[in-house]
Amino acid sequence: EKVCLAYSGGLDTSIILAWLIEQGYEVVCFSADVGQNEDWKAAEQKALKIGATKLVVEDLQREFVDEILWRAVQCNAIWEDRYLLGTSLARPVIARAQMRVAQREGCVAVSHGCTGKGNDQVRFELAFYAIQPSIRVIAPWRLPEFFNRFAGRNDLLDYAAKMDIPVTSTKAKPWSMDENLAHCSYEAGILEDPDHTPPEDMWKMTDSPLKAPDTPEDFTIAFSQGLPSKLVLPSGKTVTDSVEIFLALNALGRKHGVGRIDIVENRYIGLKSRGCYDSPTMTILRLAHLDLEGLVMDREVRALRDQFVTFTWSKLLYNGLYFSPEREFIEKSIVASQDRVNGSVRLRVYKGSASVLGRSSDTEKLYSAEESSMDTLEDFSPVDTTGFIGIQAIRLKKYGLMKEESGEK
Ligand code: ARG
Ligand code: SIN
Repeated sequence: EKVCLAYSGGLDTSIILAWLIEQGYEVVCFSADVGQNEDWKAAEQKALKIGATKLVVEDLQREFVDEILWRAVQCNAIWEDRYLLGTSLARPVIARAQMRVAQREGCVAVSHGCTGKGNDQVRFELAFYAIQPSIRVIAPWRLPEFFNRFAGRNDLLDYAAKMDIPVTSTKAKPWSMDENLAHCSYEAGILEDPDHTPPEDMWKMTDSPLKAPDTPEDFTIAFSQGLPSKLVLPSGKTVTDSVEIFLALNALGRKHGVGRIDIVENRYIGLKSRGCYDSPTMTILRLAHLDLEGLVMDREVRALRDQFVTFTWSKLLYNGLYFSPEREFIEKSIVASQDRVNGSVRLRVYKGSASVLGRSSDTEKLYSAEESSMDTLEDFSPVDTTGFIGIQAIRLKKYGLMKEESGEK
């Protein structure tokens, strides 16, 4: 029987590969290129050496940006006020591509190396079942015959030696990482102490803000219906392709140390977990997009969106419910909310932060400097406002009176 294994080339998934073969499976390995820097040739050689039939690598960067990351930008996605969801956002495209490969290769099951304590197992498996309800999932880290045998890292290393699995000589970093275009995540190991400050050399996608250039850099992002449509770089160079915009902002953010996050978050399964993330592009785009919305978006549309749409979409993605009717439903309102989000934001990056220098829109006219001005009264009747305040005050006066009479403070 054939199994499609999500393969990273690391120790865990290499052991799982060897173990699946030992159980009598034929294994097709799958790797997703979501913009992490990986030596795919080396990963392939390793997988083949261990005994995989093949390693299929799919470049998912464009669908990742166009379908998911751009949606996250449109709704200002964020989890627990801090986390920009980099890992969560990549899972749907990876799971979908893995199912494509599994189906193409005639696999009866899919397998992955997620632990039994995390979010990723939930995200991958809910996606697999939604895409192909009949699929079988082999999650070795939840099988007693696997986790009892490989209880510690030494058991993994012993097995690797026995099965002649090459272990990369570079000393493993004392934390676990997951990298893609949106971020690099760091969890576990020494980071499990939430009061342990991460070492400077942990961060992969940002240079130290302390060592950032003394000169700020300014650039402009144009949005069309809430989607970044044009980036004018500090050099004056213009970028319009979605993936190119993403990469260019990551480079700019890296240089100035923008987008580091260090939090304790609540995993879906109920555990708290400390996570560090560097997300340059997502940090910059979220700031720019929110800012433009201030200029062009209707107040009540925005309030509804903030209360409901941003939170719900973010939560669905965090909890692995991308392939669900509720995500399809809520997404229609994200798109609808963005019809008028057209304009440009000028920004600056400097020593670890991004800030807004100004914003404008040629087409959207909700903001009028004339009308808002403190210096003119044209088309505005101050007398009306007296009534507006009077009516608003009816209820508050009643409340005040009641308190006054009862002697309450
Ligand atoms: N805590 C983050 C999340 O749940 C990051 C998970 C990192 N995953 C990983 N396989 N290293 O989205
Ligand atoms: C894992 O448990 O496999 C990684 C962390 C997570 O998914 O939350």
